[in-house]
Amino acid sequence: AKKAVLGPLVGAVDQGTSSTRFLVFNSKTAELLSHHQVEIKQEFPREGWVEQDPKEILHSVYECIEKTCEKLGQLNIDISNIKAIGVSNQRETTVVWDKLTGEPLYNAVVWLDLRTQSTVESLSKRIPGNNNFVKSLTGGASGGVHCTDVTNASRTMLFNIHSLEWDKELCEFFEIPMKILPNVRSSSEIYGLMKAGALEGVPISGCLGDQSAALVGQMCFQDGQAKNTYGTGCFLLCNTGRKCVFSEHGLLTTVAYKLGRDKPVYYALEGSVAIAGAVIRWLRDNLGIIKTSEEIENLAKEVGTSYGCYFVPAFSGLYAPYWEPSARGIICGLTQFTNKCHIAFAALEAVCFQTREILDAMNRDCGIPLSHLQVDGGMTNNKILMQLQADILYIPVVKPSMPETTALGAAMAAGAAEGVGVWSLEPEDLSAVTMERFEPQINAEESEIRYSTWKKAVMKSMGWVT
Ligand code: G3P
Repeated sequence: AKKAVLGPLVGAVDQGTSSTRFLVFNSKTAELLSHHQVEIKQEFPREGWVEQDPKEILHSVYECIEKTCEKLGQLNIDISNIKAIGVSNQRETTVVWDKLTGEPLYNAVVWLDLRTQSTVESLSKRIPGNNNFVKSLTGGASGGVHCTDVTNASRTMLFNIHSLEWDKELCEFFEIPMKILPNVRSSSEIYGLMKAGALEGVPISGCLGDQSAALVGQMCFQDGQAKNTYGTGCFLLCNTGRKCVFSEHGLLTTVAYKLGRDKPVYYALEGSVAIAGAVIRWLRDNLGIIKTSEEIENLAKEVGTSYGCYFVPAFSGLYAPYWEPSARGIICGLTQFTNKCHIAFAALEAVCFQTREILDAMNRDCGIPLSHLQVDGGMTNNKILMQLQADILYIPVVKPSMPETTALGAAMAAGAAEGVGVWSLEPEDLSAVTMERFEPQINAEESEIRYSTWKKAVMKSMGWVT
């Protein structure tokens, strides 16, 4: 049969901590046409260490691209309509490889890894006179092209987010030779072409750290617009426009995006939560109380309450706003009545309470409270979670019908690049995305009581590691 032509299509690789995905969108409507997803293994060689196999990550990307192209073929969609590919990725996870052989020297050290804690402590002691030295500057294969974009570079603590260059002083301080670092480019320009596979020759023209990509995918282009993405962790980013805003409440300053070589850079304030979807994976893999992540919703629905059980999943210490590496996970408020359904409910509530903590910090830093929260990410398909989130934040929660906003943002950046030009970044190009709204349904007093009990539980999670 003759393959249907839909107009320009754009693909996006979304390489997250828990899985890799490749998704293909129609650039005229943002309709998701097909995708493929592969879960990624995480290794925990020692307590506090988290690693991944870089080759597994790379192969998962190839696999997802090939399988998606096969699925498009089955749908009679001609893959020659794919005009560009964007890449979004988990940030801070680090790999070093041999530039001659392309072989990694060691596993990828994942952003959740705690092994460098003592190094960080000793480096902190060496910070020259001004304690803000690092914060004020950073905000917190063989052949081929070795490059990254400004959003990813801004997560390394080696990149000066004002000059948008690797910083000599910081590299000397951290003892990192500057020559091993990639070239830093904008988030939207042609970096190179696909070298092999079904999409050989297609330009790779979008690159953003996953949280920046979601900000773009949610069209948060104005000062004060914010989104929260529920992935392995949870990341709330608020666009602060052309200026770097430094937090007084435990948030990070980061590069939001720079959509073109000659385009201006935009910044964001970020609230980071280490464990969100990861707690569901832990209930599945470590406790075995669910077989698939989706089962958590039914388990929680059975009881509709945690029955006074609170779960602080501080597996990697606590991130924003506490930044407390001594914290460890606790489940408290247990009685003989508590069962796995209550624990499942408490795990979902924990994701919402942690978001409330970073939203409160964001409101304090920005001065103007957010009137609603734009959310995205796979977990937002869980309706119980979304209702709980609205109840606990006590503002409406607004979710797009297509929650893969991270991939959408990478695709938009790729499609908008000079020399590609198939995506205008105007709202009318997102006509396939509709919004669902969750309003708070409990009374404000109950919401506050639950939140203050959560805070008591958080205090108990601190100081476990000395
Ligand atoms: O900073 C880490 C972040 O980029 C990881 O995102 O989607 O894997 O939770 P995700």
